This record gives sequence, C-alpha cells and structure tokens, in this order.
Amino acid sequence: MSMVLRGNWNYPTTIWAGPGRIAELAEACSRAGITRPLVVTDEGLVDSPMIKSALASLKDAALFGGVRGNPASRHVQAGLRAYRGGGHDGVVAFGGGSALDAGKVVAFMSGQTRPLWDFEDIGDWWTRADPTGIAPVVAVPTTSGTGSEVGRAGVILNEETHQKKIIFHPQMMPRIVIADPELTVGLPRAVTAATGIDAFVHCFEAYCAPGFHPLADGVALEGMRLIHRYLPRACANGKDIEARAHMLAAASMGATAFQKGLGGVHAIAHPVGSWFNTHHGLTNAVILPYVMTFNRNSIADKTDVIARVLDLPARGFDGFLAWVMEMRRELGIPHSLAEIGVSADKAAIIGREAAIDPSASGNPIPVDAAQLERIFRAAVDGRLGAVDSAG
Ligand SMILES: [Fe+2]
Repeated sequence: MSMVLRGNWNYPTTIWAGPGRIAELAEACSRAGITRPLVVTDEGLVDSPMIKSALASLKDAALFGGVRGNPASRHVQAGLRAYRGGGHDGVVAFGGGSALDAGKVVAFMSGQTRPLWDFEDIGDWWTRADPTGIAPVVAVPTTSGTGSEVGRAGVILNEETHQKKIIFHPQMMPRIVIADPELTVGLPRAVTAATGIDAFVHCFEAYCAPGFHPLADGVALEGMRLIHRYLPRACANGKDIEARAHMLAAASMGATAFQKGLGGVHAIAHPVGSWFNTHHGLTNAVILPYVMTFNRNSIADKTDVIARVLDLPARGFDGFLAWVMEMRRELGIPHSLAEIGVSADKAAIIGREAAIDPSASGNPIPVDAAQLERIFRAAVDGRLGAVDSAG
C-alpha cells in the first residue's frame, strides 16, 4: 500500500511537506509576513531552473547567490549588503546546508548592531540580540542532510581564526519550511550519500548524547530507521520520490533530535572542515566508525536498541558497527580522511579545537583534546583498531 507523501506539520516549526509544494512558495512568504524577499542560495544553484522559477513566482524578490560551501563571514557580510541595499523584509533560504545557514544568519543579523561573533553559541550570548531586528525566513532545502531548515543556528567560518562558529538564536528557526522532495531528485549519488549519512550521524549522536530527552530519542530512532531503509534506494535511483521524501523528512528529524546534543563526530568534523575545506557530510561519514569505536563501552545498550530498530542481522554494538561499515562501503565513502585530502600535520590544533567545539560536550563520555587528536590521527590513517576500547 502506498502512502500519500504529503503533510502539514507543526513541529519543530511549520513544515509543508510533499512533492510539488514549491508551488506554494509565494503563499509561504506572505504567511511569514515577507513582502520583499531576498532569495539566498548557493553559487552552484544560481542558474538552476528551480531558482529561476522560484524568482519568477515571487513579486519584488531579488537573488543573492554568493554562498559557497563552508560559508564564511564574508559571505554573510555580502548577503547583508544585498539585503539592506534592496530594502528587503525577509529571506528565502534556498539550497543546501551552506545556503540555509547563510540565509538564516543574514536574516538574523539584518537588524542587529553588534558584530556577528558576539552571537556565538556560548552560554546566554544569544540574549545580546535585539529580537525585533530578526527578519523572518522561509527555508527550502535541496539536500537531505543538514536539517538546517528546522535548526536555530547557522555554522559560519571565521576566516581570521579559521574556526567554524555556531551562531545561535531561538528565533533563527525558519517560520515555514517547504520540504519538496522533487527539489532533491537531481542530487548526484555521491552528494546524496554524504548528506544522507550526515543526517544519520545527527540522529545517532543525538540518541547517544547523555541526558533526559525522550522526545529527541524517539525522533532520532525513527530517523535512523528511515535512513537505513531509504538512503540506499535514493542513492540507487535518484528519481525514487518515495525514498527522497523519506530522506528529506529524516534530515529534518536529525536536526530536530540534535537539540539534545551531538558528539565527537561533529566535534572533529567542524575543525577538519575549517582547515581542509572538506564536505561536512562526507567528513562525518568517514569519521563515524572511529568515534563509535572509541565510545564503544559507553554506548553498548543504545547501539543494541538501534540494531533492533533497524532490524539488523547481527545485534549489539558489533552488529551495528558491521552495518555502518557495510553501508559506508556500498555508498562509496572512503575509509580514511587521507583519501579526502586531510593530513595529520594539523592534528594538535584539530584536537584542541574539537575539544572546545560545542558538539564535544554531547559525546557519551567526556573527551579531551589528546583523545580527540588520537581519534583524528587514526581516522587520517584509516586505523580503526587504534581507537578500539580506548573509551
Ligand atoms: Fe552535521
């Protein structure tokens, strides 16, 4: 029996899900109170048919297409100039994680007087913001990974310190999300795989993060079940709209769940992305088994639950790890960071920066810079055994 792949959901924000729903973009803007939208998108999407038809459907809209992968503060500043110069009153953040993050941060900064780095996700720094200066956002994801469309933060590179900083404010949550799986059918197989595993890692790290949060745990488990079932299908046939619809939902579920916390995979992936400009999802996909193995002793019970929910042939931590390794291989993910251009020469810095990344505090067991450096070095060389039982 096939399911109608369409729904209007109201948590964690308003989500209009289903094939073809991009036709409702103008309606979404007017519901969000936006009359002059700035459409913020990735450089690579500027000339795409989906951006052209989005612009054609919106009155008084302008395009800012200056966002690159791992967006930096100069991209945000350029977006802000376009926003203020054009007299806009809201943002349509349209694209992959980089465009969504940059678009959300442009809308957030549009009415602030303090500098961007004053709003890093540290303690209660977000209360420094003037909430009346935050413009509304309509988010339109075109990948299924980041989940930024339902997140309250944007990750922006500080070019001076070479650190990825998380800019956070509760009102950065988009007002309306259009989750249209037809926008993701053109994603190449490799990007589908890397972004899909990023979504999986969001669910996995959130589920394994310590703390009492059964809501997040439930969302994370179902997200992992959907990705286990549909990611191979979406990779095998990009036009499989059922697989694409479930992957898009799972990506939003990952970001919903990680309000609980992330962990060592993201803590290491952030500085690796800052220093080596690697793709975020691909970086996570490579690092995942190394951090899992390091955490082995503290996540035995949880990985057994995951193995049962996924109905894997072998149970427990080992059954789950075996599936992760097999999925990585099948989807063409390299086993070592060296294979994606990462070297060990920055290992000490990466260990230090991973230890202070906000994601590190969600790791199931406390990790320090020396341990994170050791995990990173093992991942560079592809030596999974080097982290075994170290946790
Ligand atoms: Fe991620």
